[in-house]
Amino acid sequence: MFQLTEEHFAVKEAARNFAQNELKPGVIERDSKMQYPTEQVRKMAELGFMGMMVSPEYGGGGMDTLSYVLAMEEISKIDSSCSVIMSVNNSLVCWGIETFGTEAQKRKYLPKLATGEWIGSFCLSEPEAGSDATSQRTTAVDMGDYYLLNGTKNWITNGGTSKVHLVMAQTYPEKGHRGINCLIVETDWQGVTIGAKEDKLGIRASDTHTIMYNDVKVPKENRIGDDGFGFKFAMKTLSGGRIGIASQALGIAAGAYELSVAYAKEREAFGKPIAQHQAIAFKIADMATDIEAARMLVYRAAWLKDQHLDYDQAAAMAKLFASEVAMKHTVEAVQIHGGYGFVKEYHVERLMRDAKITQIYEGTSEVQRIVVSRNVLNGALYVDSPVLSMP
Ligand code: CAA
Repeated sequence: MFQLTEEHFAVKEAARNFAQNELKPGVIERDSKMQYPTEQVRKMAELGFMGMMVSPEYGGGGMDTLSYVLAMEEISKIDSSCSVIMSVNNSLVCWGIETFGTEAQKRKYLPKLATGEWIGSFCLSEPEAGSDATSQRTTAVDMGDYYLLNGTKNWITNGGTSKVHLVMAQTYPEKGHRGINCLIVETDWQGVTIGAKEDKLGIRASDTHTIMYNDVKVPKENRIGDDGFGFKFAMKTLSGGRIGIASQALGIAAGAYELSVAYAKEREAFGKPIAQHQAIAFKIADMATDIEAARMLVYRAAWLKDQHLDYDQAAAMAKLFASEVAMKHTVEAVQIHGGYGFVKEYHVERLMRDAKITQIYEGTSEVQRIVVSRNVLNGALYVDSPVLSMP
């Protein structure tokens, strides 16, 4: 059901060429120095990768989710710091505003975000609200024509560079998650403080920060959706975000696999290329099979979204499986490379470090299991699609 079109192949090829020719040369150094890829993000914007799914009316590429996934996969084979910057901007910030924002919000924010002139952040996690996202302590007190925003957000991707934040904050604590609002906040407004950059295990070139809001006045017209819609906004938006991270995980696994196949054909031991030893050939067979299965889940989730069918469960399954495949097979890629795999020059140790975050952000593997098991136990035995739901 998701036969790729010529346009899809063109997007995939453009992303592959960019990743292999322009991202690969400096990726080790950027990772090592935690150097934000300013120039590379500018080029991604030029290529249209920062607002791929945004309607051309608002300055975007008007492409489908499958195109976005194909580009994410190719870029993640080389540089997941770049792909997470791209993913948060596309599937959380741009998609969230375009789908649930007012016409005025779309006109004000999307043209700059979709062209990469501005970068966005999605601010949900807090020191004490990660997986338990309903426990928001950040407050947005209703002051009449504006909200007074106070609180702290943690592990915010694009935190050091973004111009626009989508901030989840509690307005009516007595209503629990139904009291949460999502506010669009500009980072140069008074009271917004960017904390120190995190020194991370992986995706080290991306900028992850703590953000503090101290008596920030947010105009009422910057609330997304009805009063109290913020938690549902976050959940719905994160479902699409999970397709983005699933495609990142797929790309990391596929990148490690491509390197492993090439290395195994070249490296000789005991008188022949190591690929001709079953110990290595079987690892490669397992990698190829798992990656193909992950790819089917990821493309399918994207396809369901493009068909306007329910994709929450498909996205959670895709992220759960692809991130586990990425972790498992990047470890195997290091093993195939032996001592070379343990040094930076051969790329696979970085891919292994980068893989870990895909099991954590935009919902841990445990959160994806909660989503999938609840759906199943509530009666959705199969993912709701015209293909598999036939009696
Ligand atoms: N769409 C719409 N509404 C949804 C929804 C969805 N996909 N999922 C849940 N909801 C609604 C529910 O219907 C419910 O609403 P009502 O009570 O009005 O019916 C409400 O949200 C609460 O849902 P739950 O009772 O299921 O909530 P819960 O407390 O049991 O939590 C959870 C469920 C799945 C664990 C959720 O809290 C969750 O996804 N947590 C993880 C959060 C997360 O992914 N954080 C990532 C941070 S962002 C990030 O990483 C970005 C970055 O920078 C890389």
